[in-house]
Formats: sequence, structure tokens, C-alpha cells
Amino acid sequence: MKIVVTGGLGFIGSHTVVELQNEGYEVVIIDNLSNSSEDVIKGIVAITGKTPIFEKLDLRDKSSVKVFFEKYTDINGVIHFAASKAVGESVKNPLLYYENNISSLIYLLQELEKKEEANFIFSSSCTVYGQADNMPIDENASVKPAMSPYGNTKQIGEEIIIDVAKVSSVNAILLRYFNPIGAHPSAEIGELPIGVPQNLVPFITQTGIGLRKELMVYGDNYDTPDGTCIRDYIHVVDLAKAHVMALQRLLNKKNIEKVETFNLGTGVGSSVLEVIKSFEKVSDKPFPFQIVARREGDVTMAYASTDKANQVLGWKTESSLDDAIESAWKWETKIRNK
Ligand code: WQD
Repeated sequence: MKIVVTGGLGFIGSHTVVELQNEGYEVVIIDNLSNSSEDVIKGIVAITGKTPIFEKLDLRDKSSVKVFFEKYTDINGVIHFAASKAVGESVKNPLLYYENNISSLIYLLQELEKKEEANFIFSSSCTVYGQADNMPIDENASVKPAMSPYGNTKQIGEEIIIDVAKVSSVNAILLRYFNPIGAHPSAEIGELPIGVPQNLVPFITQTGIGLRKELMVYGDNYDTPDGTCIRDYIHVVDLAKAHVMALQRLLNKKNIEKVETFNLGTGVGSSVLEVIKSFEKVSDKPFPFQIVARREGDVTMAYASTDKANQVLGWKTESSLDDAIESAWKWETKIRNK
């Protein structure tokens, strides 16, 4: 079975390639290396001993996408990660996000709708819920007006897939991630943020290693027990395994609808201060931070209902927040001590 993983050299993509190989799938990675490096392949091989096929390709190049699917006619499924994903950047440069995230998806689907059978897993995000009304957030929670162009590309992407699935052979599963963190326990692959990390956990580990002076905590006057925002931090390996299970659901024709949606989280909410405490415990050292003003666009609270993923997909997370933070710290110390 041959599976295409777009963005397969990225953070979640590379961890999913490992889990696909562990399950015996042959993997073809598509990546344009705009936010990743070919060195990641070495990390994947170090873990599984298997070398994925790698095609350097920009999915915004419609003709290259067509040529790719003419070359690989025996594809059984596609897991689509390739997208720009920095919320702040998307506000400053919306067209970069609409062009990259939407046209890439369209060109991919134009090739998939030609096939007899097309199994498509889409990387979506809990950001589509905005500030949900009820916690935990289940898949029936309303999709609210996007808080950023990045979030809007995920909402629009989901709608495009639903419309295409109605009139084509495409079967799809939309996976709405909560907050992916951590790294493979081998520390052979992990998150490689370019520049100053926007996300909490890589900023924490870079502060812990001394790359950053201190963490700015964006507000402690939210309506939460300790005043800081609450999120559902999910270990990236748990998340990767969910992608394999979603793909297998389609390959085995277990899906009940042409397009199904699953929230992927631990079901547990953790505040920023609780994440800092976890890091202090894991790294066994005090952690420098200060409370500053809120960040525009942050929601107060978001954590997943895991019922549907548990009962329908048959998947649940195995790692705790401390496990994920420990793996992130092990990765950071390894890549900085090269
Ligand atoms: C988490 C919490 C911040 C940095 C975003 C996207 C989501 C997904 C994950 C791509 C918030 C606080 C953060 C810092 C801080 N991205 N924080 N100081 O915003 O929940 O989700 O990233 O798929 O789609 O929306 O994640 O890690 O940026 O922030 O205090 O230096 O940490 O305010 O409360 P977020 P995050």
C-alpha cells in the first residue's frame, strides 16, 4: 500500500511517516522544504530503518501536481499536511495563506477526483471552533467566524472537501487537532521552528536551553482557575497514530459518511502556568517567565471531547502532558548539543 504524505518532512508529517512505516505502508513524501529540511529523512530512517520516497514539489505548481499523479498511479491514500500554519503571519500576509493553503488543496483534489478511489486525510484544527461555547468541545460544536486567515483556510478547506466528496470518488476524514507538542521519544525527529517560535512549548524549551531569555506569558487575567489560557496539549506521536487509524478506516471502507470529522485531543485542559510547572518538573530547574499583556486572537479555553475519536475511530491518547513535555525537552537538548 502506497501512501502520499504532503508536508511529510514537517513536524506532524514526519511523525506520521514513521507511524505509517511502522504499520508497513510504503510512503511517498511531498514537501517543498519551505518550512522543513531533507535532513529529517535521516531521522525517519534512524527510527524505522525504512527510507521513504521523497519528491521535492510545491503543491502550488498545478502542472507539477499533475505530473506527480501521472508518475505515481498506484496511490492508495493521501494525508495532506502541507500548508502555512503561523497564525500571526497569516494576519500580516493573508494572500500568502489563501494562495498556499487553498490552491494546494484544490490542485491535489483535482487529481484525486479523477481516481476510481481516493482516500484523503485532511489536517484541520480546533481553531475552526474559535471560542467554543461549551467545554469539552465536540465535533458538533459550531464552526465560528475564523479568528485569522490561517484558521479561515482550514474552514474553507473543509468546505471544499465536503463539496468535492459529494460528487466524486473522494472519501475524506477531517482531523481537527488541538495543540500538538513534543517529539518522537528517540529524539531523532521533532519540531524545528524557524526563527522565534510562536507556539508555547517550543518557546519554553528554547528558553530552557538558553536560546531565549524568558517566556512572555500572554495574560493571566482570563476567566480560568489561574488566569492563564487553557489548551489541550496532545503528544505528536499520539496524533500521528490517529492519522494512520483514520486512513485505515477509509482503506477498510469502515467510514459511515463520505466525509467524517474527528477532534484529536487528550480531553484534558492545561493552563499556561501548568505547562510551565510541567517543564520545571521535567527539566528540574526554575523557569524564567513574566506575565505580559494578552495576545490578540487568543481564546480563553479549548479542550477536546474525545468520545467520538475513542468510540468511532477507536483511538485515544496514551501520553500525558509530562510525557510530551519530557520528549520536547529531550529533543531540544539533543539538537542544541550537536
Ligand atoms: C498556547 C497558549 C498563548 C506563546 C495555535 C493555532 C493552532 C495550532 C497550534 C497550527 C496560548 C500562550 C504562547 C508564548 C504564551 N497551530 N503563549 N507565550 O494559539 O493555542 O494554537 O497553535 O496548527 O491552530 O491556533 O497555540 O502554542 O501559540 O499558544 O503565553 O510565547 O500559550 O497565549 O494561551 P494556540 P500557542
